[in-house]
Amino acid sequence: MLHSNLTVNEEGHLVIAGIDSTMLAQKYGTPLYILDEDRIRKNMRLYVDAMHEYFGRGARPLYASKALSFRGIYKIAAEEKMCVDIVSAGELYTALSAGFPAKDMYFHGNNKTDTEIRYAIDNRIGYFIVDNDEELDAIDKYAAQAGIVQDVLLRVTPGIDPHTFAAVNTGQVDCQFGISIETGQAARFVGNILNKQHVSLRGFHCHIGSQIFDQIPFCDAADIMLKFIVDMRTQYGYTAEILNLGGGFGVRYVETDPQIDIADNIRLVSEHIEARCNELDVPYPVILMEPGRSIVADAGVTLYTVGSVKTIDGYRSYVSVDGGMSDNPRYALYGSEYTVHIANRMNENPDFLCTVAGRCCETDALIQENVMLPHPVRGDILAVLVTGAYNYSMASNYNRICRPPIVMVSGGKDRIVVRRETFEDLTACDM
Ligand code: LLP
Repeated sequence: MLHSNLTVNEEGHLVIAGIDSTMLAQKYGTPLYILDEDRIRKNMRLYVDAMHEYFGRGARPLYASKALSFRGIYKIAAEEKMCVDIVSAGELYTALSAGFPAKDMYFHGNNKTDTEIRYAIDNRIGYFIVDNDEELDAIDKYAAQAGIVQDVLLRVTPGIDPHTFAAVNTGQVDCQFGISIETGQAARFVGNILNKQHVSLRGFHCHIGSQIFDQIPFCDAADIMLKFIVDMRTQYGYTAEILNLGGGFGVRYVETDPQIDIADNIRLVSEHIEARCNELDVPYPVILMEPGRSIVADAGVTLYTVGSVKTIDGYRSYVSVDGGMSDNPRYALYGSEYTVHIANRMNENPDFLCTVAGRCCETDALIQENVMLPHPVRGDILAVLVTGAYNYSMASNYNRICRPPIVMVSGGKDRIVVRRETFEDLTACDM
């Protein structure tokens, strides 16, 4: 199977972390998100241990909670000693309401509103990742009002294209996030921050993209960032203490994706940074990373029920299921590849070529094309693997479809951590 937490039992059913998926579909209904808690904890520990071992004890892994945000995930992150990256007052509120310490939060985003900035400062958030002039002024103002000096990192664009899909490349110069090193604007901006009374610049941040399968783009980014650290030392006599290299390690969605050893990649990045620091004569910075996808993606599976199988003679066969782009918009948005199975007939011959369609009312609302399955029939349980990241967090109520619940499995037990939406939820804001 694609990941070690997935097996097939004697009845030919897909088993997730030791639990029969068809039993979960029956117990909770479909569509259904399943999350393997032990896998999430294992992925978090992998980062915590590898970063401490190779970058030093001060290194901090931040879980990028845009990948999957609900109260329970912040509790797990706190228990596993991860800090978190948040990008909105909504994520901040969710984390706070889960008891996650504000001091371990890093607030990202290219347009934080005044209300959000004040809310974060009132709650004494650890860090802002500053993105623009207006935000800097607002942080300085509200920090002054609160009588504090606010720690910040500056987000810069190192001008790197990590050769993954365009929608998630965020390290290039021409992009709405961060400030460019190449144009000289980042250097000037450092001067602005250093002049602020109520803001303390602790270091620099970059994020180059997503679905990265080796250490090279991170090493390239580190080179540019370390040179920038040296340039800022020369220009302002300021030495950055923290270097945040962002997220982006890839996960295996389909058999053809590589399986990467993240700890080994971290080791290689660390060796590279150490050599470069020696060359440039700068102190080894406190390294932060912000994994999102590689923490939660392979912990998730989505279950659907097949409703119809329609073969258009001379064209293709559509298998329609009871969810779709409302719970997973990634194929519609990016053409993302997924592995799909009939969970109740795992041992049968997958000899039927089909397109899996959701139930939303538009032609491109597909879950996957060119899938080989044993001929599906109404009532079969269809499983889409590796849906833990950017599925629930990107879900919508399009077509007034209720969002599915999340069932967490751990140690052979299952429990609801996000309940299924109801029709009352759908109309709760309607006046
Ligand atoms: N840090 C920053 C500043 C980011 O912008 C992101 C992701 C991350 C960390 C986490 O990256 P990860 O480790 O998850 O690759 N919706 C898209 C992904 C967008 C990612 C945006 N930023 C998708 O479904 O593939």
